[in-house]
Amino acid sequence: MSDQAKLQTGGESYEFPELSGTCGPDVVDIRKLYAKTGQFTYDPGFTSTASCESGLTFIDGEEGVLLHRGYPIGQLAEESSFMEVAYLLLNKELPNQGELDDFIYTITRHTMVHDQLRQFYQGFRRDAHPMAIMCGVVGALSAFYHDSTDISDPEQRKIASHRLIAKMPTIAAMAYKYAVGQPFLQPKNDLSYTGNFLRMTFGVPAEEYEVIPAVEKAMDRIFILHADHEQNASTSTVRLAGSSGANPFACTAAGIACLWGPAHGGANEAALNMLHEIGTPDKIPHYIERAKDKNDPFRLMGFGHRVYKNYDPRATVMQKTVREVFEALDVKDPVFETALQLEEIALNDPYFQEKKLFPNVDFYSGIILSAIGFPTTMFTALFALARTVGWVAQWNEMISDPGQKIGRPRQLYTGPTQRDYVSIDKR
Ligand code: CMC
Repeated sequence: MSDQAKLQTGGESYEFPELSGTCGPDVVDIRKLYAKTGQFTYDPGFTSTASCESGLTFIDGEEGVLLHRGYPIGQLAEESSFMEVAYLLLNKELPNQGELDDFIYTITRHTMVHDQLRQFYQGFRRDAHPMAIMCGVVGALSAFYHDSTDISDPEQRKIASHRLIAKMPTIAAMAYKYAVGQPFLQPKNDLSYTGNFLRMTFGVPAEEYEVIPAVEKAMDRIFILHADHEQNASTSTVRLAGSSGANPFACTAAGIACLWGPAHGGANEAALNMLHEIGTPDKIPHYIERAKDKNDPFRLMGFGHRVYKNYDPRATVMQKTVREVFEALDVKDPVFETALQLEEIALNDPYFQEKKLFPNVDFYSGIILSAIGFPTTMFTALFALARTVGWVAQWNEMISDPGQKIGRPRQLYTGPTQRDYVSIDKR
């Protein structure tokens, strides 16, 4: 028998079951609240609301812990590969060698996009943001792959998930190629998932593209760090869209749209732009003061997180990866020095300490991506590419649940009460 939470309202006392997960805070099951009391809960921004049950990812924000199916992100980033993490998220367990080989084979064989899809790109302006292109093109996939949109069929769900994971690098690379006016490159099956993406992005038909192993490894690690992050805004968007029975391509397009915002995935682009705007370390105090000023909309981008009230474990790996990439490519970027100093000053400032604001995954990622050669506008598209794994894994988890219901929040209505229509000549 679970513990019961007591609620007193309107002179009555009600009991609601408390449920325990394997990790993290217990939850009060209020599904019967309205039926019992005629009241709703009020929680804009879902600061205290668990929207679903999930076995994929666990975050302990106070301790700075992130686990995928129980495995710490630091270990996965150091020892695993993006394909292995994708398999883990989709299939609950790490693959053995045979299972991993089969999975990579399947993903590799789905990397091409329908040839007609390239015409979609021609419809965009050359200076279109890659995320605008991604929203449109990924949504359009539902018009091409009708044989994997019956969401009640687990096999079709699996094929759609594989297609999305496999085609996302091709679609993102095509967005880049379109912007720079170079021809699209077809996927090459003897390359890794990440190597293939780098080649489709930076290669040209006139010459062989050589994948630099250190860059491939760093990029793969960045993909791992972005693969899933529990019920964040874009994942919740995918779940909400999927709860109505919409197909996974449309749901993923919805996730991409949500990710684009600067408070979410768009923060990596905004963080690097901010570091460039700050320019030199002597300007940092001015920007710190601006970030603390309630009347100034400026915020330190790449800082703060709804869940982490400690160092984001992904930022730790990112910071280390910056050094590795710089060394491998023999580059130096003064913006990294600015970032390190900004971090140090902020972490020693009472404002950031009291509010528990630490660097998040986006603080350092832009510096690495920029060193590799990506323009800032591609940063969020790369985030979307990697997060697709989490989106489809979470979507599959939701659709496989027999008790799944359409997501339908309620509201605290503050508009006018009922009134009679007034004809236009009397207004
Ligand atoms: N710079 C200055 N002040 C901040 C910042 C920041 N980056 N982040 C939060 N605060 C302050 C905020 O003003 C508020 O102060 P007060 O309590 O006095 O009103 C307090 O800290 C709590 O902030 P909040 O906005 O209520 O917290 P939230 O959980 O709703 O927002 C966040 C979380 C990530 C949207 C926010 O920290 C932020 O805007 N950060 C910058 C954008 C960013 O880096 N986003 C990437 C997040 S990680 C990757 C991802 O999710 O995609």
